[in-house]
Amino acid sequence: MQIDSLEVLAVKATMEAPYLQLQGIRKSFGEGDNSTLAIGGVDLEVHQGEFLGIIGPSGCGKSTLLQIAAGLATPTEGRVTFEGRDVTEPPAGIVYLFQQYGKSLFPWRTVIDNVAFAIEHRPGMTRQKAREECQWYLEVVGLADAARKYPWQLSGGMQQRVTIARALAAKPRVLLMDEPFSSVDALTRLELHALILDLWQKQRFTAVLVTHDVDEAVFLADRVAVLSRRPSTIAEVVETELPRPRDNLATRELPRFIELRHHLLEQLLRRDA
Ligand SMILES: Nc1ncnc2c1ncn2[C@@H]1O[C@H](COP(=O)(O)OP(=O)(O)OP(=O)(O)O)[C@@H](O)[C@H]1O
Ligand SMILES: [Mg+2]
Repeated sequence: MQIDSLEVLAVKATMEAPYLQLQGIRKSFGEGDNSTLAIGGVDLEVHQGEFLGIIGPSGCGKSTLLQIAAGLATPTEGRVTFEGRDVTEPPAGIVYLFQQYGKSLFPWRTVIDNVAFAIEHRPGMTRQKAREECQWYLEVVGLADAARKYPWQLSGGMQQRVTIARALAAKPRVLLMDEPFSSVDALTRLELHALILDLWQKQRFTAVLVTHDVDEAVFLADRVAVLSRRPSTIAEVVETELPRPRDNLATRELPRFIELRHHLLEQLLRRDA
């Protein structure tokens, strides 16, 4: 066997090893008779380098599960490991992108200083050095000209792009996204889909996206995990098997895309009934 193919095999083996792993996750809120079991037992592996979508009915525990994966919430039972280590607090390398961009940007900081916030606290870093390094990320998301503006001077889609630039400036190994595109208009959403796919392909991080939107999950992901109603478990994990690079028009017209959308919507409608 050629060295090249051995290298390919080695890369493939790393891609397929458990990377971010959730085992036997249960989560309840409250005490005694007033307690709610939100997550009823979830086992899920995220592979290094993949794009994983998570869909499920409203209130089934998607955000809670993602927060547990990020070390932002503690499971009542079960275990999370990242790169072989137990996650008990937010680990370095995992970045969480919140849905409400309006609430996650600092209104008193300029756009560039919002992005620089991701790295300016690092040892040896100054605000000015952080600004210089982050200017590139603003260019990547198409906001170089907005660097000196304040978040409230930007449209919703632009603000969301600032949060994406900030998340990427932290150079995540894993980017966890909780419905990051749901508060922008439909056209901006399609643009952000193309942007996030482009960045994911160039920067080779692992992406996990929680969404209500079946089309979005199918379009972006390699695999889509379907959560059941609360208390949630994994109902199904589907490989999308759609070719990359994906195209906002052509991919969505593929028979496989339409078949997957039908299947997943059917699952969700059944689970919502
Ligand atoms: N901090 C909390 N205290 C009490 N209950 C909570 C808390 N966070 C979530 N819950 C409950 O846990 C369940 C799951 O909530 P979660 O926000 O994770 O669901 P979700 O699937 O993200 O919902 P949505 O689709 O509306 O975003 C809900 O019943 C919710 O009310
Ligand atoms: Mg949620």
